[in-house]
Amino acid sequence: MTKPRLFRLWLALGSVFMILLIIVYWDNVGTAHFYLHTAVSRPHSPGPLPTSGQDPEKALAADVDEFLEKLLSAGTKQNILASKKTEQPAPSVSGRPVLGNMEESVRGYDWSPRDSQQNLDPAERQAERRSVLREFCANASFVFPAKERSFDDIPNYELNHLIVDDRHGVIYCYVPKVACTNWKRVMIVLSESLLDQGVPYRDPLDIPREYVHNTSTHLTFNKFWRRYGKFSRHLMKIKLKKYTKFLFVRDPFVRLISAFRSKFELENEEFYRKFAVPMLQMYSNHTSLPASVSEAFSAGLKVSFSNFIQYLLDPHTEKLGPFNEHWRQVHRLCHPCQIDYDFVGKLETLDQDAAQLLRLLKVDKNLHFPPSYRNRTASSWEEDWFAKIPLAWRQQLYKLYEADFVLFGYPKPENLLRD
Ligand SMILES: *[C@@H]1O[C@H](CO)[C@@H](O)[C@H](O)[C@H]1NC(C)=O
Ligand SMILES: *[C@@H]1O[C@H](CO)[C@@H](O)[C@H](O)[C@H]1NC(C)=O
Ligand SMILES: *[C@@H]1O[C@H](CO)[C@@H](O)[C@H](O)[C@H]1NC(C)=O
Ligand SMILES: *[C@@H]1O[C@H](CO)[C@@H](O)[C@H](O)[C@H]1NC(C)=O
Repeated sequence: MTKPRLFRLWLALGSVFMILLIIVYWDNVGTAHFYLHTAVSRPHSPGPLPTSGQDPEKALAADVDEFLEKLLSAGTKQNILASKKTEQPAPSVSGRPVLGNMEESVRGYDWSPRDSQQNLDPAERQAERRSVLREFCANASFVFPAKERSFDDIPNYELNHLIVDDRHGVIYCYVPKVACTNWKRVMIVLSESLLDQGVPYRDPLDIPREYVHNTSTHLTFNKFWRRYGKFSRHLMKIKLKKYTKFLFVRDPFVRLISAFRSKFELENEEFYRKFAVPMLQMYSNHTSLPASVSEAFSAGLKVSFSNFIQYLLDPHTEKLGPFNEHWRQVHRLCHPCQIDYDFVGKLETLDQDAAQLLRLLKVDKNLHFPPSYRNRTASSWEEDWFAKIPLAWRQQLYKLYEADFVLFGYPKPENLLRD
């Protein structure tokens, strides 16, 4: 080979390599395996590395982040809400607010002024929720555990509730007891992650329940490490920046009632053994308990709501491990001060929020959110449920869930917190 030809070959190879490098950072998905093999070649920083007295790994990570920041600030994803607002007139929910669920409207459900969001149009309602969230995340006098840590400091196993759909660029943080079965179904349909005889599911309701809750069905952030190795955090950050992120929340106390009803009032073998047995032993002095939940139920041995609250307040409980996801605080599941959610849905306005979200994701033509038909726990029952719980416990419980109340704009339940 002649010298000029060799030179041209090197030039061509070099260009291809640079382009590939950009693709790897830009569109990480299909090139995931390539990612691993290029671990040695990183984008060069414009200046020298700021290594003085710093961990070189950290400096490098910061460097890569800066590179990504620049790359991404070219602005691929606009704020869906901002861009949509001009495009599309608000759906005409003219006049009276429409309540999605009859139960939520019975017996004077207390929509405080804060939640008078019922009257706002959907885009304004989102803007309001997100601004409340941002305001309290930024407010230094409002504190709760782990509030101030950065996204990098969140361990992988705490990112196991973030489900990613690369096909549409959507990230959903699932919160158990907040319509999560149906939203997981929607994520399966969107990402085509589950096949029915070789064909992806098209209707969320066709997906069998046992598949919906099988963690191996979903691509979650905590699995990134295994797939993408040391670049997984950078990849997460790219996706967090480019994708539309949403979650659904609900009144924290009503969520607790709902968790109690479904896990301890219905026969559930797993929750009986793991949680009901220790609760009955510790808080009701039962020494010998039946091995199965059906035997226990026939013998009239059930955890009371008061046992459950006592368990939540017991300082020993979390020494053994974090709260089960059904009663773990939403801010601990979804990290709303570290992740800038684009859409905050609420169960209290589920039907409108679901329709709005699917419209924003531009998937509303083919996809409908499954209607909720079950007897949903209503806020109006709250006082009945808490009637037998001592005032001091109710106040402690509020403290325990206060961050969720405040961040998501739920009014403090004053009527439960005084005599
Ligand atoms: C910040 O939070 C504190 C405590 O919750 C509250 O009293 C205060 O009004 C908040 N400040 C702003 C500016 O919202
Ligand atoms: C979840 O799915 C995987 C793979 O399809 C399967 O091997 C596993 O048994 C399932 N787990 C449960 C609890 O159903
Ligand atoms: C359980 O037993 C202990 C000791 O026998 C007693 O002090 C306590 O009051 C009992 N608690 C309940 C809830 O019955
Ligand atoms: C829903 O369930 C609650 C408590 O289990 C019950 O009191 C209520 O009557 C039920 N409502 C309907 C409409 O079934």
